[in-house]
Amino acid sequence: MKLNSSWRSPSNIALIKYWGKYHPQIPANPSISFTLSECYTETSVSLLEKKANADYDLEVLLDGESREDFKPKITKFLEHIRSEIPFVQEYHLRIETHNSFPHSSGIASSASGMSALALCLLSLKEEIENTKIDDFYRKASEWARLGSGSASRSVYGGLAQWGQFAGISESSDEYAIPYQGKTDPVFKNFRDYVLLVETGSKKVSSTAGHGLMEKHPFAERRFLQAHENLAALQETLASGDLEKFGELVESEALTLHAMMMTSSPYFILMKPNTVHILEEVWAFRKETGLPLYFTLDAGANVHLLFPEAVEQAVAEFVSTSLTGYLKNSKYICDRVGDGPVKLS
Ligand code: DP6
Repeated sequence: MKLNSSWRSPSNIALIKYWGKYHPQIPANPSISFTLSECYTETSVSLLEKKANADYDLEVLLDGESREDFKPKITKFLEHIRSEIPFVQEYHLRIETHNSFPHSSGIASSASGMSALALCLLSLKEEIENTKIDDFYRKASEWARLGSGSASRSVYGGLAQWGQFAGISESSDEYAIPYQGKTDPVFKNFRDYVLLVETGSKKVSSTAGHGLMEKHPFAERRFLQAHENLAALQETLASGDLEKFGELVESEALTLHAMMMTSSPYFILMKPNTVHILEEVWAFRKETGLPLYFTLDAGANVHLLFPEAVEQAVAEFVSTSLTGYLKNSKYICDRVGDGPVKLS
């Protein structure tokens, strides 16, 4: 008997950043993100006849090619949820995965990849144990979080929030929830153009960066600030005040990178072209008055955030003024998406 489950799960971009965590994958502060649409991972998990007599008889393929280097992170994840997936030890586990974006694009695949894997395993659990999981997505989010913190937010469409926060009564450190606060329609179709400044893997992984928040001189203030910023963001999401929204989101992005620059050891993930783009965005905004803002993840790429209504002007600006700063002039035109899709 061959059992299989496949899911497509999107990446997400944080507006309030998760940076710093405690064991086991408990965030040091709450975060909130837009789930994307075009940047996703498709994963298929098959349970086949066991070959080796190991705890985890595991095979991982990216675009059909075996990836030994993916195994440690996946094994660690399986170990976290071991007691909930006893069936896995009885099979040969084949994980086949594909990203819609190039693996070397600098776009983190851990959010989409770990959420897709969690969803596949949870579907298999339902099938094998012949049960219906209550709150399927909440459970998937909890599992995804154990694989990668940001992955917890990818199991929902739209805005997703993770981490205990006084302003949202159901918020939890263990799983993300769909953001249910009042949200102005302008955010429903928000755009995110991902500008690929740097390709290839990063010098410092996010996991290592989180670790450096442990003894960070500004950590306590930063964690508090994330709460304050989330409270302020709630207001701008409700009112649709784009200027305030942009101010908060840009400040969060720069704070994230400021934390990296003030860690011990310190490091910089932005590149000169990242900074050039930020300056161009500010100049464009000053000149046109249009609501175009940026955010950054833990890398050199820039995410341009803007409402659908100004897409034409922004697209023109990107192609005439920004592509010169990009690796092979490449960027991805993404938008807020609807969340994961079950493929089988
Ligand atoms: C800067 O979720 O990749 O993108 O939990 O160690 O897997 P791990 O880290 P990860 O960290 C993401 C950090 C961030 C901000 C965010 O997405 O909130």
